[in-house]
Amino acid sequence: MSETKIAFAVIGGTGLTAIEGLEVIHREVVHTPYGEPSGQITHGMIGGQRIVFLARHGYTHNIPPHRINYRANIWALHSIGVRNVVAVGAVGGITPQMAPQTLVIPNQIIDYTYGRSHTFFDEGLRSVTHIDFSQPYCPKLRQALLNAGKQAAIDLIDGGTYAATQGPRLESAAEILRLERDGCDLVGMTAMPEAALAKELGLSYASCSVVANWAAGKTSGEITMSEIHRNLVVGMERLRQLLKVLNCC
Ligand code: HPA
Repeated sequence: MSETKIAFAVIGGTGLTAIEGLEVIHREVVHTPYGEPSGQITHGMIGGQRIVFLARHGYTHNIPPHRINYRANIWALHSIGVRNVVAVGAVGGITPQMAPQTLVIPNQIIDYTYGRSHTFFDEGLRSVTHIDFSQPYCPKLRQALLNAGKQAAIDLIDGGTYAATQGPRLESAAEILRLERDGCDLVGMTAMPEAALAKELGLSYASCSVVANWAAGKTSGEITMSEIHRNLVVGMERLRQLLKVLNCC
């Protein structure tokens, strides 16, 4: 456990393998009963606050969404004293306001993933445990992110339903229409089981989703990696400004 209180953890997704401007204090290797996290945990300072950072896909961006050890990542953060987790992730925009480069603070999730180790309440239990997941994202931490947006004059979309898909391929146009009919506004590959695992350990968890592209079928032509990267560069810079003024408590 760190001596100084950690204000929050950032789990960085595609486009955020490091936080520019983070003054690194040290890097910590954490082993967990669930295996190895995606990488070392970076301790540092941003905006005068002590934070930690973990690159969800590894520091060289080599772990695809379905192979991330979500349990190890969340367990590791919890074990070092983290209580607030800001999950950053690239998403595709489905509904009209979810334009590329937009930052969204989603408030709901629908899980379309499969075959991922998705719970800590699995084996050797004294009794079966069901957590409440009515609000998958912590309302207080969501509000803190929205307040930071106001303070830093960064437009944020307040709310939206995140469709968590299996990946690593992007979706077909018909799949996106189905997600839209289901009520989803944005689509990404990493919010689940991450959000549920955080809730199982009692962590406050909220997401800042960065729209990288219009989802499949929402524009003519293919979705290209260069388009995704171009939009993420702009979105992630805004996100860094947001993190500098984020006040979690
Ligand atoms: N679909 C799923 N995940 C994504 C997308 C997408 O279109 N863009 C960035 N992450």
